[in-house]
Amino acid sequence: MEKMWAGRTAGETSAIADDFNSSIRFDCRMYRQDIRGSMAHAAMLGAKNIITPKEADELIAGLEGILDDLDSGALAFDMSCEDIHMFVERELTERLGDVGKKLHTARSRNDQVALDMRLYMRDELTEIAELTEEVIRAIVDKAEEYSDAIMPGYTHLQRAQPILFAHHILAYAMMLLRDLGRLNDAKKRLNVSPIGCCALAGTTYDTDRRMEASALGFDDIALNSIDGVSDRDFCVEAMSAIALLMTHLSRFSEEIILWTSWEFRFAELSDAFTTGSSIMPQKKNSDMAELVRGKTGRVYGDLIALLTALKGLPLAYNKDMQEDKECTFDAVDTVKMCLKVFAPMLATMKVNAANMRRAAQAGFINATDLADYLVRKGMPFRSAYKVSGGLVAKCIQEHTVLEELPLEEYKKESELFEADLYEAIDLETCVKKRCSEGGTSPESVAKQIEWVKAQLA
Ligand code: ARG
Repeated sequence: MEKMWAGRTAGETSAIADDFNSSIRFDCRMYRQDIRGSMAHAAMLGAKNIITPKEADELIAGLEGILDDLDSGALAFDMSCEDIHMFVERELTERLGDVGKKLHTARSRNDQVALDMRLYMRDELTEIAELTEEVIRAIVDKAEEYSDAIMPGYTHLQRAQPILFAHHILAYAMMLLRDLGRLNDAKKRLNVSPIGCCALAGTTYDTDRRMEASALGFDDIALNSIDGVSDRDFCVEAMSAIALLMTHLSRFSEEIILWTSWEFRFAELSDAFTTGSSIMPQKKNSDMAELVRGKTGRVYGDLIALLTALKGLPLAYNKDMQEDKECTFDAVDTVKMCLKVFAPMLATMKVNAANMRRAAQAGFINATDLADYLVRKGMPFRSAYKVSGGLVAKCIQEHTVLEELPLEEYKKESELFEADLYEAIDLETCVKKRCSEGGTSPESVAKQIEWVKAQLA
């Protein structure tokens, strides 16, 4: 096939070089954005009389036909084309004859590909944000479903203080809300049109870049044409936001993996989101959560690949920039898959509140509250801390817990202890009393739920 760029050379490249150079096998996924962009370009060329309005109409109708045929499957991508831009233009010329050859006036593949990527990422970021919202909704639903379940809160993965399970998972809702903010920020900065920058220097034709930009829903145009064609910040920003979102999903996954282990038994995933073992009949594995955790690494890799591809590039376009696609697409596909599986996995997860409570009872996690009790009776905190610590040591020695230790034993350590200490170290009391803003008390957690819901609305 004769190359679109045959002219200076005969366009004879080796088959291996063609294969190496071509991007159609991955950039074909942007065909809708490519065609949408070309329609806006044709309309602008017509409106500015760079081509006749009739030619513009013909081009737009031809592009519409190609779009329909690709959508319906009537037209297949020709993998021998260099990229999606060449494919669409060649198909258009085959259908329309010489008029088709006018589409690429006042345009270059450099601004065209920058445009396609921006349109594509804008669509994808919208979808990723929606999927993220679904996970947040699943968290809120779970928090409401188990609003009074008490679990041990951990530091260093050692039992620390009693908390509401709802409080714990709402921490992830907060993280994901920040992720939403970052996705939306990236989308705002991305929404600037590069079309009309042409190869790098702009064009000699009397074009109207703003007309094209507003037809395509952009807020502004790139004000420096060299930057317009060589800027891939928007991919880096989007992938950074995606990478951090994956970090959060991965941490949550790690907890779900722990909770569903036989050692914890805090939760059980539905059969629909677990797998068995081919050899060990007793197994129920949290594979989905493990995969989310595992895939996080590859998304980081995608981000690093792009940053590294960009770091040594002189202005303006270099073919290295074609390498932006596979990593960006992979990050987008991966995060979408993870979000799609995470929301229903969480929604169908059953919490074993009794086991959580048992774990909270066994770990002396009310020792802080015991110290606070003495403080309320007049003892300085540091002394109260020491007394509580001694009592914990005694309990461990005697294989008992603070709740069961007789009052006489308490009295031996301090005369300030009275029978009301048991009420003070009761798990419910420990949780209820932590009513500082953002704390674990039921009122505080209810407020957090309302706040998260309001952010989503
Ligand atoms: N396939 C190319 C890419 O993805 C399109 C731009 C090609 N531009 C060029 N000057 N060769 O970057």
